[in-house]
Parts: sequence; C-alpha cells; structure tokens
Amino acid sequence: MGSTADHREAPPHAAVRRPPSRQELGSRLPWALTVVLAVGLLYTWLAPAGQPAGVANQQLHSGAAGTAAASHGGGSWPTTGDTIHTILASNGGPYINYQTLALYGSWRRVRRMPGGEKMVAFTRILHRTAHDELSAFVPTVKVQPKHPECDGREAEPGRRWVTECKWPPANRINATAQFFQAVLADPSLVKAPYLYYIEPDFLLVKPVVAPGPAEGAAPALGFFYPNVFPEYPQWKDLITRKLFPPGLGPLSAVPRSGPAPVVMRVADWVRAAPRWVDIADQMETEPELVKGLDWVRDMYSFCIAMAVERIPLRLEGGMRSTLIVLPPAANGLGSATGLHYTYASRIRWAANASLAWQFEKRAWTRQRIMEEVPPVPLPPPWQPGLLIGPGDNKPPLSKEQHELFTLLAETFNRGLEEVGGKNFREVLGPGAEPAREIPAPAAAAAAAATSGVG
Ligand SMILES: *[C@@H]1O[C@H](CO)[C@@H](O)[C@H](O)[C@H]1NC(C)=O
Ligand SMILES: *[C@@H]1O[C@H](CO)[C@@H](O)[C@H](O)[C@H]1NC(C)=O
Repeated sequence: MGSTADHREAPPHAAVRRPPSRQELGSRLPWALTVVLAVGLLYTWLAPAGQPAGVANQQLHSGAAGTAAASHGGGSWPTTGDTIHTILASNGGPYINYQTLALYGSWRRVRRMPGGEKMVAFTRILHRTAHDELSAFVPTVKVQPKHPECDGREAEPGRRWVTECKWPPANRINATAQFFQAVLADPSLVKAPYLYYIEPDFLLVKPVVAPGPAEGAAPALGFFYPNVFPEYPQWKDLITRKLFPPGLGPLSAVPRSGPAPVVMRVADWVRAAPRWVDIADQMETEPELVKGLDWVRDMYSFCIAMAVERIPLRLEGGMRSTLIVLPPAANGLGSATGLHYTYASRIRWAANASLAWQFEKRAWTRQRIMEEVPPVPLPPPWQPGLLIGPGDNKPPLSKEQHELFTLLAETFNRGLEEVGGKNFREVLGPGAEPAREIPAPAAAAAAAATSGVG
C-alpha cells in the first residue's frame, strides 16, 4: 500500500469525523426517530457478541447507549470521567514480546508524568493456547486462539521463530472480540471509561489525553491512515457489493483509519468488536479483497464496522495527531504522545551510502532476543552528510528527524530499562497482576446468559 511518508501532510479527508453540526443534526432527526422506535428491539443488540447480524437489523444498533451493557454481569465498567485503559493483542512470540516489554515500560514511565494518573490500566490480550513468558509479569488476559497454529515455536535453538500461521494478525480480531465478550460478562476487566487500543510496535512518550469526559458528547479519537482508502476504485465495488451496501450510506462514511490507535468508550468497543468480526468474516469470502488488501484488511474491516455501527470517530492525521507519529515519515513528535514504528527508520552515510544506523523491528525474530532483551543502538551524532533511508531517493537527514530517531531509540531503551531488561522477571514479578484466562465458550455462554437471550 502507499507509503505514509508521501501523504503525511494530507489534509483530513472528507471521511474525517467531527461532531455533527446543528444542521446535520436536523437532517438526522428522522434517523433518530427510527432509533427511538427501534429501542424496543434493542435485545437484538444484546444477543451474544460475535453473532453475525444481517444488514437489515444493523440500523438498530445506532445510538445504543452503553449504560444498558454497563450494568451487565452484576457490575459495570466505568462510564464517566476521562481515564484511559490501554489494551493490545499479542501472539506471545519473542518478536512481539520484546516490543511489548519496551511498550509496557514506556507506559509505566508515562504514568509517573503529570497527567499520567489518567492512564489507569494496561492489558495484554494474549491469543495463544497456553500462557507465555510474559503472562506472569505483564497484565494479561488470555483468550482462546482461533488459529492455534499461530502459536509458533523456535525452529531450533538460536534460529528464527516459526509458525504455520497463514497471516500473522489472523487471531487478532477474534481475540479482541472474545475480550469484549468477556467484558460484557465481567465488566471489572475494564478499569476506565476509555480504552486505548494500540499495537505492540507502539511506544508512549507522554500521557494520552482522552477526547473529553466519557459522559460528554466528544467522539472517539483515531488516526488518519492515508493508505486506508475504501473509495479506491479497485475496492469500491467489492466493498459496496457486500460489506457496506449503498443503503447504509456513502462509502465516504467509512473512516480512513484502523483499530489502532483508537481511544473509544467501552460501550462502543463492545458494539464495534462483534461487527468487526462479522465484516472481517464476510471479507474473507471475497478472494480479490483478501489478496489485494492483504495485511491491511483488518484495518479496513474495522473501519467498515465503525461505519456500519455508526460510531463517530474523529481522525487526526500526520503530525497533528495527539496519538502517534510514524517515523521515519514524521519530522518530529508534533502533537503526538506516542510513536508507532511499523516502518523501519534508517540513516546512511553520504560518503558511501552504507548503513550508519537502523531501527528495524523485523530484525527481532529470534527467541534469543527475549533471553538478552538488548537495548537498541542510538543513532550516530547528527552531522551534515547523513542521509535518511530506505529508498533510492535518499534525502539528507534533518536535525529534526535525527532528534525523532533518537527519541524513538531512547524511548524504547528506557522502556526496557524500566522493566529491568533481561531481568524483567525479577523487576516485574513482585506485585504483578495475576494473569487471567477467558475460556471462549464459557465467556460466550456467560454473555448470552446475562443478556437474557438464548
Ligand atoms: C472466535 O473464533 C471461534 C472459532 O472460529 C468462534 O467459535 C468464536 O465464536 C469466535 N469468537 C468471537 C468472539 O468472534
Ligand atoms: C562509510 O563512510 C563512513 C563515514 O565516512 C565510515 O565511517 C564507514 O566506515 C564507511 N563504511 C564503509 C562500509 O565503507
């Protein structure tokens, strides 16, 4: 897909969500009435999560407040205030676990900063048949992997970690939905009114600020990904044919974003997650989409799910994002509170174009990385004559970019230091939250029982 670097200053697209104006609200009145009339049928919404619902009843989902769900299971999740619970899904392989240690350390550091008291909890949703080497040390809720073949193993000592997994994120959507199914049954799994969904290759630099008090009207907050483009001619027809038929609105209503980073109320996550499963499952029946969208199809399915559920998502793009920047595309941290290092950052010597430094997560695929938990190298001091890579057309490295690369490597290393590096067991062990386990069928049964629908 297109590089973010090319579009980082792209103006927010028409799909960018904002609170509706008075005029728009007026035009939505008939819609609101439909919703009110539909409240009697709200039980449809309370059907076991993950049960696909047809397009016909999708309209009933709009406007369903979280309060009903919040009082489920004899308790409730927080619905007021502006605190944030950070969550991410993981397969428990060394590649992801090394990243998770740096991220968890960065989260713990951020909690000690002014405003960090709002970042009240951190949960790793582990989709794996058995607990892994981090379960006893990083707050973990284990769910059943949809694809147990994605567990992975070390090919032989010192060799790469291998899996029979066809598609690395194969378990993620299902795992996330299992977590929210479990939240319906046991709301105490969630400690804040907002959930910040991120990925292991994120780092936190500063405390994240919620869009507003959860009891207010501020929409959820997401990131504008220019490479997610449902209106792209090649996908347009395929998507509207099945996943977002014209009756649901224009395709521009689908946000150009992804599930991460998103700061959203718990009730909206509970609503979006089963729809995400549903859309992703439907997408799998369109071979052309599967092939064409490849790794980004879970981003597309999330965005379509948000549009189907009519959950507003305000998107911030490029360096205006208060959530993340993506080095090396960005020139600095801008307004962001976090870093997402999905792309490699590289510096080359102008003299011979050889590599002077790189920050490349794809090099972290051996089990050894979890035995050593090594810090990453820092970039060489800034000097004229350094180039930014990769690519043939390598521009000179600016001081600002050098600073951002240094911030990236330092934040990663300080995160690892925070958790004790290779001594993470000794440092995190005392006082670690006991890992939880959600047996999928039981969670489903519990959710069904508490919703009063068989
Ligand atoms: C996860 O996948 C399993 C196996 O396909 C399925 O039975 C279950 O309903 C899925 N869970 C959710 C929440 O979608
Ligand atoms: C490339 O140039 C840099 C700076 O002059 C030097 O430090 C480095 O050793 C050179 N690398 C190779 C492979 O020649």
